[in-house]
Amino acid sequence: MAKMAASAVESGEDAFRKIFKFYRRRSPPPDFSKVIDFSRCAPSEQIVPVNLDPAAVSDVEASRVGLQPVREWRAFGLRGHPGFIFISNPFLCGAQPFWLRQCLKIYPQKPNICNLDMHMPSSETQDIWGKSVHSLRFALAGKREAKTLLERLRWVTLGYHYNWDTKTYSASNHTPFPRDLHHLSVHITAACGFPGFISEAGILNYYRSDSSLGIHVDESELDHTRPLLSFSFGQSAIFLLGGPCRQDPPTAMLMHSGDVMVMSGPSRLLYHAVPRILPAPPGHLALEKGDCGPASSLQDGSVLEPVSEEDWAVCSRYIQSSRVNVTIRQVLAPGQKFPETPSSYQRTGAGQKDGYNDGEADGESGKRKRSSSDSADTVET
Ligand code: OGA
Ligand code: MN
Repeated sequence: MAKMAASAVESGEDAFRKIFKFYRRRSPPPDFSKVIDFSRCAPSEQIVPVNLDPAAVSDVEASRVGLQPVREWRAFGLRGHPGFIFISNPFLCGAQPFWLRQCLKIYPQKPNICNLDMHMPSSETQDIWGKSVHSLRFALAGKREAKTLLERLRWVTLGYHYNWDTKTYSASNHTPFPRDLHHLSVHITAACGFPGFISEAGILNYYRSDSSLGIHVDESELDHTRPLLSFSFGQSAIFLLGGPCRQDPPTAMLMHSGDVMVMSGPSRLLYHAVPRILPAPPGHLALEKGDCGPASSLQDGSVLEPVSEEDWAVCSRYIQSSRVNVTIRQVLAPGQKFPETPSSYQRTGAGQKDGYNDGEADGESGKRKRSSSDSADTVET
């Protein structure tokens, strides 16, 4: 662990918050040398290989959602964190552009809900992509006075829409979950030993280079026996994985474009945070469409579609300075229903635990800035 981070641990006092601040610091920049990089690492005392189940997903099924054969995936765990699985970019070459295009062009569309809906009429937020592409393609960002809607997008919710104020999901606030994203999720969770996963809620986070996500646990889902799945696209990030207590010192790791994380079993309810976005190292923004041979290699029955040059021009410019994170959650156990009275399923202590934020200095929970009343213009520092 880096020097300052180590001293915070020794003091035993709110080590997570200190390490969050350490990695978020701009000047002087922190020492990143102890941050685990699963794309380069070999198993060690701390890093253990994880055996997946190649029989759970056929090669054809995997390729239909843009994934390599499961036997090719490089999956790791962390000693002391059973149930935590890090899969180092299992995507086929050329598949990430499709998923990124879905995240920028398709998933922000109605009936899905985004931060801009909180303070704009739906007539203005129903074509975020269409209203943004011209400026994004042709104007120099520095020369524009107003940010495009796409640049002001901070979050999108899918399926059971997460209510940022009450920190709950509800039966009445639900729209269909995207089928392509469910197929992707179901194959990854099956390979990790969780057959029958139902993608019921999704939260997409859109990070600029100065964004962060505060210390929190994802516990609003009613069934915690199902894994939580997380995808990274675009710029890299530091992810901090803590323990079951808010004060437990976290482990720092890098997430690069295409990486997938599964938090399951005892790791499902661990504290975590994203203190910093980092430039993707060379070769890690593995999104160049042209490098992977013709798009005609798409399988019959593939959920992937070719991404047009026009769309790709916008997506590739966007991710030069941004990161997109997609988290997929099963909210209910099979057959489970939401309780009748809303108050009976509000989680306790929610205000202390939710740390979603943007531009926040210390990752302190209870200071969440990403609420439904946020103005998108205030979330950047
Ligand atoms: C979340 C989350 C982490 C990330 O959305 O709950 O923890 O990698 N995201 O952005
Ligand atoms: Mn989370």
